[in-house]
Amino acid sequence: MKLDILLGLQWGDEGKGKVVDFLTPQYDVVARFQGGPNAGHTIEFGGKKFVLHLIPSGIFRQNTINVIGNGVVFDPITFKQEVQSISEFADVKSNLVLSSRAHLILPTHKLLDAASEKAKGDKKIGSTLKGIAPTYTSKIGRNGLRIGEILSPDFNTKLNDIIQIHKQQLDFYDFDYSLNDMMNQWLEAVEELKSYKIENTEYLINNELANGKKVLAEGAQGSMLDVEFGTYPYVTSSNTVAAGACLGLGVSPNKVDKVYGIFKAYTTRVGEGPFPTELFDKFGTLLQNKGHEFGATTGRPRRCGWLDLVVLKYTTMLSGVTDLIITKADILSGFEQLKIATKYFVNEQFTSELPYNLEQKITPYYDSLKTWIEDLTNYSSYENLPDNFKEYINYVENFLQTKISLVSTGPNRKDIIER
Ligand code: GDP
Ligand code: IMO
Ligand code: MG
Repeated sequence: MKLDILLGLQWGDEGKGKVVDFLTPQYDVVARFQGGPNAGHTIEFGGKKFVLHLIPSGIFRQNTINVIGNGVVFDPITFKQEVQSISEFADVKSNLVLSSRAHLILPTHKLLDAASEKAKGDKKIGSTLKGIAPTYTSKIGRNGLRIGEILSPDFNTKLNDIIQIHKQQLDFYDFDYSLNDMMNQWLEAVEELKSYKIENTEYLINNELANGKKVLAEGAQGSMLDVEFGTYPYVTSSNTVAAGACLGLGVSPNKVDKVYGIFKAYTTRVGEGPFPTELFDKFGTLLQNKGHEFGATTGRPRRCGWLDLVVLKYTTMLSGVTDLIITKADILSGFEQLKIATKYFVNEQFTSELPYNLEQKITPYYDSLKTWIEDLTNYSSYENLPDNFKEYINYVENFLQTKISLVSTGPNRKDIIER
């Protein structure tokens, strides 16, 4: 059996949580492979709404093993709170396994994140302030602390050594902080973590695959936030493209089968950085209001714009996407105008290639498509959907030369149409 991957093709918040929860019954294992509590994955069912930051979105289904892989950066405090928030609806202790190799986010990583953002002033990244960049910096700099180490007798010594290094780093910034309360809370959460399953999850996943089981890798953030290929430096600090799943779980590339690329019917971005199709007119406001575009992790308003096929062509290429999934198609119903960017005008010429530097002046070239007024949430079969909507779907498929196999028409688990 092979590994399937689901990942975001834009700047995050494409609806990954909702769709992973929908697909989970087809899988034996669901695993997060990168990022950390900067993610906010929303799942709605039975009149309830949940936002997951660290726990994979397969947790609400029975008989599924959920894995937090080695590529994730892990905050014990967020984890503790998250477990409490879903305890009535999910058996986390039985159904979740944590990688001993995943790196721990320390309270000082969060302080360093805040200090760095403050020092950047108007060049700030718009980080979620969850300590992501400093924790990946520690990992690559070979100064990190991993989950497996909480069980080791010299954990406290290692922890104190790292905290000392971080304090020296914080001294370079003009930044006031107090650490004691945070540190106590963190140590309490670490103590609790010891009662969870901590394993070398690369063995677990490869054994499951060898035994014919199906594994789904759940991406966080989006391809345009990838540290290699995104809008650097306005990116996150992990590899969000498909290759990241192999590294972040310890699975070889020849085990990958389907790559689901998920995108919103328009584009959103939370935080700073370039966004060529961003709208500052009434359509941008309409998308934000109708789409309830406020961050699931920080509550910040999301910037909104038209769908950008230059971006999607690039990100489907980077991850070898085999199946596309469109979400929030319902939000476009009743729009008096519908546009899609198909190329950019940069440096006096048109290009369909995503430029290396998106901070230069870029004017997107748009195609206008026919609109529809019907509420898509009321439909259950693809054939019956409005013709103009199906034309829009065909247009995107033709452009990307990839089939759209799922259409999401609302936030609920059941608001989805298979083709
Ligand atoms: P993720 O980070 O990719 O999991 O996405 P988020 O949960 O941050 O943001 C997606 C938002 O859109 C959430 O509030 C979802 O409940 C909601 N959502 C997902 N799919 C749809 C859809 O097809 N239609 C509508 N209206 N909302 C959706
Ligand atoms: P999900 O998984 C949208 C953005 C932040 C910021 C940049 C860097 O819910 O799609 P970081 O805290 O990672 O150092 O912030 O990345 N960002 C996200 N935007 N969805 C996310 O996750 C995000 N995770 C990080 O807003 O611009
Ligand atoms: Mg989100």
